[in-house]
Amino acid sequence: MVNELESLYQEACTALAEVKDSQALEAWEAHYIGRKGVVTLALRSVGNLPKEERAAFGKRANEIRDALEQTYTEHAELIRSHELARQMEEGAIDVTLPGVRTPSGSIHPATRTLREIGEIWREMGFQIFRTREVEDDETNFEMLNIPQHHPARDMWDTFHTLTPGVILRTHTSPGQIHAMRRYAPKPIRVILPGMCFRYEQISARKEIQFNQVEGLAIGTNIRLSDLKGTITAFAQRMFGADRRVRFRGSYFPFTEPSMEVDVECILCDGRGCSVCSGSGWLEIAGCGMVHPTVLRNGGYDPSLHSGFAFGMGPERITMLKYGITDIRYFWSNDTRFLAQF
Ligand code: PHE
Repeated sequence: MVNELESLYQEACTALAEVKDSQALEAWEAHYIGRKGVVTLALRSVGNLPKEERAAFGKRANEIRDALEQTYTEHAELIRSHELARQMEEGAIDVTLPGVRTPSGSIHPATRTLREIGEIWREMGFQIFRTREVEDDETNFEMLNIPQHHPARDMWDTFHTLTPGVILRTHTSPGQIHAMRRYAPKPIRVILPGMCFRYEQISARKEIQFNQVEGLAIGTNIRLSDLKGTITAFAQRMFGADRRVRFRGSYFPFTEPSMEVDVECILCDGRGCSVCSGSGWLEIAGCGMVHPTVLRNGGYDPSLHSGFAFGMGPERITMLKYGITDIRYFWSNDTRFLAQF
């Protein structure tokens, strides 16, 4: 058997030396080392041999296959360069033609903004805390001071699962509870980025899935001025050092007081344009001081601890930044859109 193998090896080598073009090379490959090639089949026949011969045969067969593959690769390289040289001589290849562009992927615009936001908060000392996308009603709502049947639930149209009480998170705020329960009573400085889901009628402005970046800082003596200073520092790193920032009073059940954050429109510098609807301001986040009830639910004593929280939407920020007018582009996987970033 081993002898047969050796002569097969010799034959293959002689045949390969005769091969002069890629067509013949292809035929050689198929005949000898392809999936149904004679060498391949010989290798497989090891199972038919008596036990004591198998080891020696197998070892030699593997060597032969490796050797043949190696010579084949070298020979193929040689033939390719000869053929290329010939084609160039014949003028079949116009070396002055522009090259063919290989399509390459790009980072999704939402991911890009998400990373940019994460990087700024990292510089400011915030760590990333990841929490689940599938939540329970209790953490998504109740622990955040939004009881069953409370009218504030209308702010978050919810996807329910078949399991009662198990929902897709409508915002990243339940992550506040997870982070607090993990760290209480120690101080916290985290951001919680991730996908959120809402049962919305999809339109140019509303999607059923979107990212949020939640932020949470808990400690002693954390005050509203800390929140305002921190958010302003973030906004100026994100949108430019001279960018003006303003806070408007608002309402969220889990913060008190609550505010919304606007930056001077980044497209018209506050003069008023279609993106800022003529107002000169763009809303970028909701925020506030963590409600005492929420602190307590997280395991902190509101008489000793205080903190602030904020939530922002990377897709929305991306839309503002690039003047994208329709949020549906984000998840429609249209490469004409994605390739622009
Ligand atoms: N969770 C709020 C929302 O989805 C945003 C928010 C987060 C507001 C944290 C205040 C504090 O609209």
